Amino acid sequence: MILSLFTAPENADAPPPAAEGAAEAAADVVAAVSQAPLPPVETAHPWALPTAASTFAEDTDNLYLFITALDTLFFVLIMGAMGYFMWKYRRRSKDQKTSSITHSGVIEFLWSAIPTVLLLVIFVWGECDFVRQSVAPADPLEVRVTGQKWYWTVEYPKYPGVSLNSSTEEPALTLMVPKGKPVRLTMTSTDVIHSFFVPAFRVKRDVVPGRYTQIWFEATRIGEFNLFCTEYCGDFHSNMTGVVKVLEPDDFERELIKAGVLTQDEGESMAAYGERIYKRRGCVACHSVDGVDGTGPSWKGMYGRTESLSDGSSVKAEDQYIKDSIYEPNKQVVAGFAPQMPSYQGQLDESQVTAVIEYIKTLK
Ligand code: CUA
Repeated sequence: MILSLFTAPENADAPPPAAEGAAEAAADVVAAVSQAPLPPVETAHPWALPTAASTFAEDTDNLYLFITALDTLFFVLIMGAMGYFMWKYRRRSKDQKTSSITHSGVIEFLWSAIPTVLLLVIFVWGECDFVRQSVAPADPLEVRVTGQKWYWTVEYPKYPGVSLNSSTEEPALTLMVPKGKPVRLTMTSTDVIHSFFVPAFRVKRDVVPGRYTQIWFEATRIGEFNLFCTEYCGDFHSNMTGVVKVLEPDDFERELIKAGVLTQDEGESMAAYGERIYKRRGCVACHSVDGVDGTGPSWKGMYGRTESLSDGSSVKAEDQYIKDSIYEPNKQVVAGFAPQMPSYQGQLDESQVTAVIEYIKTLK
């Protein structure tokens, strides 16, 4: 019962009827600030442990609660003893002399030996969990994760052509995994150090340029869970959030292909397709469509404009320049911006680039 105090409410599932009013009110607030990053999918109390949704959660939480209980016990013992001695040995008169006290060998031995044993218990317990969480079981689902300022790209070697990105706009789906199957992430960064953190799974590891790091987990609950970048990586670090969706294994493959393959729908205009690409492939992380410049120039009113470049020359922002900027972004950088856009060579094909250009044309 005490433990339930430390457990987050079951919020990945449907809210109970009584909470519906509150949920609606929250939805109104969210709608009012549509420009802000999406709210986290799990709500959590600051004093509670996050939702538990992987096989690691129970072990990790048990160790955490053990350490917290130990801390509490020693806090009470030490503060209690201190208060008691302050009272017992208080100065009783102005000319009172301090009595001569040497030491107690037994007490000194105990206050060294007991903490040593307790720390060894914590170390061995933590080490066992660490080893178990470091080595994935045989035949996991392989996932490739790339971090870059300021979004995630997720690819599945077993499903070529499938690619998911984090986005501050809907759909925010970033990683999709089946329930009850081990998943191994192999991660790297194209620029600075990021860190991949899914609190509900209790997994967190740095994502480092020039090297691969790995984590694995096995999800135990259907639902949507928060993903954070948890290493300060620059201006829009706080936008580098995402959603991890856990599905029944039977639905996983079908849903993944539906969500991860970006093709023009039947009857969809090029511009509308381009807008989906803008939201789904990370463009939105740096280019606004409302005229406010971010890390890159806003796309509003950009098409046809003459841009001054950082090398002093100028260029008209039309099809050729936009296409070049997508494939070789740091060749002709607009004056006032840092050359830090990643190349989309191999990530967007010709027709997708055309769609993006058509979308930009509509942003007058
Ligand atoms: Cu990426 Cu913080």
